[in-house]
Amino acid sequence: MAYFFEEPSHTFDEYLLIPGYTGPDCIPANVSLKTPVVRYNKKKGETCPLTMNIPFTSAVMQSVSDDKLAVALAKEGGISFIYGSQTIENQAAMVARVKAYKAGFVTSDTNIRPEQTLVELVSLIEQTGHSTVAVTENGEANGKLLGIITERDYRINHCAEGAKVSEYMTALKDLVKAEDGITLEEANEIIWKNKINQLPIVDKNGNLMYLVFRKDAASHTEHPLELLDAEKRYIVGAGINTRDYMERVPALLKAGVDVMTLDSSEGFTEWQKRALQDIHAKWPEAKVGAGNVVDADGFRFLAEAGADFIKIGIGGGSICITREQKGIGRGQATATIEVAKARDEYYKETGIYIPICSDGGIVHDHHVTLALAMGADFVMLGRYFARFDESPTNKLIVNGSYVKEYWGEGSNRARNWQRYDLGGKKGMAFEEGVDSYVPYAGSLHDNLNTTISKIIHTMCNCGVLTIPELQQNAKITLLSPASIREGSAHDVIVKNSIKAN
Ligand code: IMP
Repeated sequence: MAYFFEEPSHTFDEYLLIPGYTGPDCIPANVSLKTPVVRYNKKKGETCPLTMNIPFTSAVMQSVSDDKLAVALAKEGGISFIYGSQTIENQAAMVARVKAYKAGFVTSDTNIRPEQTLVELVSLIEQTGHSTVAVTENGEANGKLLGIITERDYRINHCAEGAKVSEYMTALKDLVKAEDGITLEEANEIIWKNKINQLPIVDKNGNLMYLVFRKDAASHTEHPLELLDAEKRYIVGAGINTRDYMERVPALLKAGVDVMTLDSSEGFTEWQKRALQDIHAKWPEAKVGAGNVVDADGFRFLAEAGADFIKIGIGGGSICITREQKGIGRGQATATIEVAKARDEYYKETGIYIPICSDGGIVHDHHVTLALAMGADFVMLGRYFARFDESPTNKLIVNGSYVKEYWGEGSNRARNWQRYDLGGKKGMAFEEGVDSYVPYAGSLHDNLNTTISKIIHTMCNCGVLTIPELQQNAKITLLSPASIREGSAHDVIVKNSIKAN
């Protein structure tokens, strides 16, 4: 006879946290959201080799995680997993772009040669919208630097016809410049001391490398939690599949990827086990997560196969129709609770701590706090990030409101059939995801800060200062349908309704 779980499966909306004692030191400024990403032997006193400063990762999806979003999220302290449903070359190039990105160091996109005319200069400025122009020998971004010209250097109506850039630019001999290798803080100092608006950075041969602008120089102060590797490059992840990993993994490692995850709708499979074992045998330094699973058996299987972290969630994603199409899945809260228990048992037995990630189905900000309290070390979000300026999709107006496009990896639009690979030659025959819009919400920085602020305040209400303390001490209650209704404004006529995220 089939096995029946005794309890129905629940989702985050059905739970609340009960406050604990809040001591005088339990204030938002003292809360740390630092969290482990990959397995480590905690009992032996090892430290986790990869941690995040906030428990947020972005989904392995075309409509969510490209290099632009990856930089924006790493600035805040989290990790993007760049989508794998693209060629190996393109994915590796995205990873390489994140690793090459230097906050505050801009590759100049508006460049001119000294013998060009001011009329040409004005038309160039109109095209790019940038009024600080690097003058280089060949007019290229990395050409030999000869000067800088800005709109303040000339008055076009007062200039002779055919006037040349060289006559009006600030020439190299009068420019304050710096050599490549300096830090943003050092560049900042030079900018302030010399009262200049931009600082060109050149290589040993005098070729232009970057411009640092006064307005960007404060980037680090604005992003105190930014997630950097030992060489001060942004940390980035990438999704892989169970088919071409022997070619994809080395390309991603070469590009500098820090962590990868097998991206699949269902990970309790021989294919994931083989991929984990093959990858770890060939590249022992590679960090590879696996999933998704929704119960203790799935967790144990992937833990023993060597997964560095394990993702939880089947059918809960906002664009997901897996449950309707195939009848598999489980309420996200119940799945997280059971997998967290299995993770704790595994740790007791082996001393090895395997971080777990609650993936999909986060609708409100407080769902993140609940997922953490239930034992998740971090969450993975698609819809949430798809709404921001930095996501790769189009911003449109639909029915008078700004929206962004958001589609599932299992939709006809993404056609990521490898994600649903169950072996054999036959391709995928039906969709497991939809193509949709999400309300446009503005910048990642502003939205994430609000979400984090809510999490931190809730943690103070619960009397805890860290995620492990929350996991240990949280008191969680299941709600009746009537108490769920009681939870939002009721029996009043709301004037300016505030929509909770
Ligand atoms: P969301 O944050 O609720 O939008 O869920 C995002 C998660 O949904 C991803 O991280 C994936 O695990 C999952 N997902 C992505 N595309 C699909 C799909 O087409 N069908 C089912 N699940 C998907």
